[in-house]
Order: sequence, then structure tokens, then C-alpha cells
Amino acid sequence: MLITRPFKAEDAGKLLSLFKETVRKVNSRDYSPAQIAAWASDEIDPAAWQNRFVGRLVFVAEHGGVIAGFAELEHNCESPMEAKIDRFYVASDFQRQGVGSALMNSLIRFAQEQNLQIILVDASITARPFFERHGFQVIASQTVICRGASFLNYKMSRHISLVATGRPMTGTDLCCGDSTVD
Ligand SMILES: CC(C)(COP(=O)(O)OP(=O)(O)OC[C@H]1O[C@@H](n2cnc3c(N)ncnc32)[C@H](O)[C@@H]1OP(=O)(O)O)[C@@H](O)C(=O)NCCC(=O)NCCS
Repeated sequence: MLITRPFKAEDAGKLLSLFKETVRKVNSRDYSPAQIAAWASDEIDPAAWQNRFVGRLVFVAEHGGVIAGFAELEHNCESPMEAKIDRFYVASDFQRQGVGSALMNSLIRFAQEQNLQIILVDASITARPFFERHGFQVIASQTVICRGASFLNYKMSRHISLVATGRPMTGTDLCCGDSTVD
């Protein structure tokens, strides 16, 4: 059975391995070997990778005890009604089996409960159809730099319909950090 649950600190190492394998096996369809080498670099510091989860909302998907994916939402401090999806990866063995949709549903439910109005994402070429399927629209294509390589991706947004039970989000619910390609 597929479940989504909150991130635990001890997940971080497994999520780093999942991320690298997904980039190398799945995103390699759409990006060059040099881009993939930079994106899923062996130079990524595990401690820095783990620290980036702090203060963010992170859901982990599990199937039969195996981690199948994860998704991360970060509050935009300058615009309290906005949040941004940062890392969002499904394991290469679990592609097109509904894992991404389960994670997205968890993020959207949270956003509704928090009375967020808009969710943004910088979507990879690979992920664009998935985000479109979930109601996101392309605002612009853009080039971003990661570890010396440049990447085409898409700035996308989705409006959130509100639910009555939510409470306004405060700056302490999710905190801000630097946005990067991974
Ligand atoms: C994008 C990603 C997270 C989607 O996860 P997933 O678990 O495979 O997605 P789902 O199975 O829930 O797909 C839901 C729907 O999205 C659409 N979709 C997903 N991937 C698609 C693709 N490659 N091409 C076209 N449509 C796609 C389909 O409509 C799909 O429904 P269907 O399979 O019944 O046709 C996953 O492919 C991934 O990890 N990609 C690589 C990492 C990445 O680029 N992350 C984004 C960083 S911003």
C-alpha cells in the first residue's frame, strides 16, 4: 500500500540516493550527460543536503516500507500566501505508478489547510507534463545554473482553492531558503 508521511531526519541519506538515481535514470532522457553529472553530482555534501530539509514541509511516499519518492514545499517569506515546491522526486522503479500524484495531493491538502493561494515550481523538462496534469501552468521558460551547468526549466504556478477550516500561515510554519535546481 502506498502511504505519504512526514519526513524524518533519518530519511535524508536514502532520499539523496533516490534523488541521484532518479536524475541519472529518468531526467537523463531530457538533459545532457554533463548536465546530469552536475545535477546529481557525487560532490553533494550529505550534511548540506540534510540541512536543506530543515524548516520545510516534506512528505515521503512509502510502498511496502520502501521509500518511493519525496516532495518538499517551502514558504515564500515575501509573499505569505505563496509557497514553492523545491525537491520533488519519485524513485526510478516507481515512475508512472501514482506516487507523484499521492505526494502532490498531500502538498495541495496542506496548502488548502494553510489558506495558501498559489504554489510555484521550477519544473524540469521531464516533470512539466506531470505538473500540467496537476493544474499548473507555465509562466515562463528560464535558464538556471547548478554547479556550473545551465538548465532549461519552466516556472509554473497553480492557484489553490481554499477550505474553510484553515488558519493563516505564519513565518514559523515554513521558512525561507535559497532556491536551487535540485
Ligand atoms: C515528475 C515525477 C515526479 C512524476 O511522478 P510519477 O509518480 O511518475 O507521476 P504519476 O504516476 O503520479 O503521474 C500522474 C500523471 O502525470 C502525467 N505524467 C507523469 N509523468 C509524465 C510523463 N513523463 N509524460 C507525460 N505525462 C506524465 C500523466 O498524466 C500521469 O498519469 P498517467 O500515468 O495515468 O498517464 C517523476 O517523473 C520524477 O521523479 N521525475 C524526475 C524528477 C524531476 O524532474 N522532478 C521534478 C523536479 S521540479
